[in-house]
Amino acid sequence: MAEQNLRYQSGFGNEFATEAIAGALPQGQNSPQRAPLGLYAEQFSGTAFTAPRAANRRAWTYRIRPSVAHKPFRQITNNLLRSSPFNEATATLNQLRWDPLPLPTEPTDFIDGLMTMAGNGDLSVNAGAGIHIYAVNDSMRDRFFYNADGEMLIAPQLGRLLIRTELGALDVAPGEICILPRGLKFRVELPGGEARGYVCENYGAMFRLPELGPIGANGLANSRDFLIPVAAYEDLEGDFRIIAKFQGNLWEAEIDHSPLDVVAWHGNYAPYKYDLARFNTINTVSFDHPDPSIFTVLTSPSDTPGAANVDFVIFPPRWMVAEHTFRPPYFHRNVMSEFMGLIFGQYDAKEEGFAPGGASLHNCMSAHGPDADAFEKASNADLAPQRYDDTLAFMFESRFVIRPTRFAMETPALQKNYFECWQGLKKNFKQG
Ligand SMILES: [Fe+2]
Repeated sequence: MAEQNLRYQSGFGNEFATEAIAGALPQGQNSPQRAPLGLYAEQFSGTAFTAPRAANRRAWTYRIRPSVAHKPFRQITNNLLRSSPFNEATATLNQLRWDPLPLPTEPTDFIDGLMTMAGNGDLSVNAGAGIHIYAVNDSMRDRFFYNADGEMLIAPQLGRLLIRTELGALDVAPGEICILPRGLKFRVELPGGEARGYVCENYGAMFRLPELGPIGANGLANSRDFLIPVAAYEDLEGDFRIIAKFQGNLWEAEIDHSPLDVVAWHGNYAPYKYDLARFNTINTVSFDHPDPSIFTVLTSPSDTPGAANVDFVIFPPRWMVAEHTFRPPYFHRNVMSEFMGLIFGQYDAKEEGFAPGGASLHNCMSAHGPDADAFEKASNADLAPQRYDDTLAFMFESRFVIRPTRFAMETPALQKNYFECWQGLKKNFKQG
């Protein structure tokens, strides 16, 4: 796969037809008696066959060998990867914050470098999510990964990822995200040598664009800004491994060829990427704040309308123009649970302590909000229109309590003094 294969088509959830060699896609049917070029036809289903048409996702792949051509799987170590039920540490109501996790000193690829911070729900019933941070310094060379437990939303914070998948290659830089569908095989290369970022492993309903309601037909993340790779394949034989995540554990199988051997495909179940700078941010032009749900990029709905399994929400560069308003995020207690990360810059509720690559967790009904310094500054600020340029924070927000792992509670990166940032909030009340 050469770099010139980094080409994309656009549109969220659209039907695509793409071939790396002209004539590789059968015309007029999915499973001809003999597929073109001696390829095998194989369907890759991301939803039940009987899912409603609007939600149904599948791709037909035309590949050099069918996916079943591999040796049996055997279980391998999970390293620091964890999955539901996330019960190895007591779920805590205390507000938590972490420094950036250090980059490794030993060669560590994307699979070995996944460290689970928290999660919720039950992957066996397609509810909840795992939240991981990766810190890596080595490309995956002779091995490939797929995740049967959920789709993976990857948000790089440091370093570019070149993700070669069965359905084509994606180049993903900090400030962009990509989503790798459940079951898709891929290999992560590091053109910059080192990388760190965040992963939401969504066990629930596939991420989709949120409804826009009174906003209308345009706004927030627009469908045409989602990029889907064109077909690109490898025809490689050798000593390779497929690593799979299945029911919370990692498994490994030998395979004598690259499984990234799809020469052509058509359908609507595919990886995609999105540049968060394309987000059409909508906010007040009078006073007060819309709730942060106005910043939702993608949502994984649950069975209860409006209560997301997990939402991906960003706090991007934007103008602040609200009149006679306390402009930072308001003090808040929420039935939903909130895990935050920072891609670059400064988050407006916390100028200190929340660093790019770091994280915070505010669980169901745990109070949070601006720290004492941010409160003082914003209460006395000149309210001229102000541009917030250097900032890109995000939140994974869920209806289920987010339970930290033992690693997250024991790592030296956990800030023991996070609570102190609110202790300077003084009494300003004056009677009469
Ligand atoms: Fe909140």
